[in-house]
Amino acid sequence: MSLIKTIEEWNEWFIRVGRNDHSLGFVPTMGFLHEGHLSLIRKAKEENDLVAVSIFVNPTQFAPGEDFENYPRDIERDYKLAMAAGADIVFHPDAKEMYGSNSNTVVEVGGEITQKLCGASRPTHFKGVTTVVTILFNIIGPDRAYFGQKDAQQGIIIQKMVRDLHQPVKVVMCPIVREEDGLAMSSRNVYLNTEERKQAICLSEALQLAEEYIASGAEDANRTETLKQIISQHIGRQSLATIDYVQILDGETLEEFACLEPGKTALAALAVRFGNTRLIDNKLLSIS
Ligand code: PAF
Repeated sequence: MSLIKTIEEWNEWFIRVGRNDHSLGFVPTMGFLHEGHLSLIRKAKEENDLVAVSIFVNPTQFAPGEDFENYPRDIERDYKLAMAAGADIVFHPDAKEMYGSNSNTVVEVGGEITQKLCGASRPTHFKGVTTVVTILFNIIGPDRAYFGQKDAQQGIIIQKMVRDLHQPVKVVMCPIVREEDGLAMSSRNVYLNTEERKQAICLSEALQLAEEYIASGAEDANRTETLKQIISQHIGRQSLATIDYVQILDGETLEEFACLEPGKTALAALAVRFGNTRLIDNKLLSIS
């Protein structure tokens, strides 16, 4: 069985497969896998000899009152899906294995990129993410690690951490995978009731409208504000949607734009609540 729970088992596997003679791709996840995760595993398989997937619902990236306890879990299903998509090994540690009994070291990317967007409403979230990703990188030692563009801010923060700390891994960002009606795939979509699920397509529709507006080449001195309005107005028409944020930022640095000049790539990013469920989505817009 290629489902292992301890670092010792990982180290044994590492030696058994002759890791040093192979390239290793790594897909860190919190499980309840969907097509988005599977696309990362397939991409990792294309680019590496071996692929490791981790499944760990990381407590430190949830604040009190968030959905850590209720986060969907199904390790047997996840294991089968991961292996069928091309994983060679699935690492499923518990919190004690990851953090020991008295770990109090954290990895935190400083500056504004962790404080804006999701960082504003979840101020401790990214510290938990960068800490657990560093622990996983240290255990697994991958050549490449694969993350989904749906968590665009997470990806930018992890890339910064890897650069700042000279972590010897290449971060590969992969496209968002969507349901047929456009809703970005997420393990949290299962929380939505029927009406919320119906209304939730307004997120991708709003981003699509933003893209069409940019493609139209409209002359507008304040395109950033216009884009935010287009997105917010479309989402605001849905009775069950409450906007957390709608932002247009530099797609590489997450900095504010003084103006949206041709040649730049903007990230249109949003977070919206439907009842207790908070969904995020984004689109990269090439400004012409
Ligand atoms: O994107 C996720 O699923 C998580 O934030 C990650 C990167 C696996 C860390 O727990």
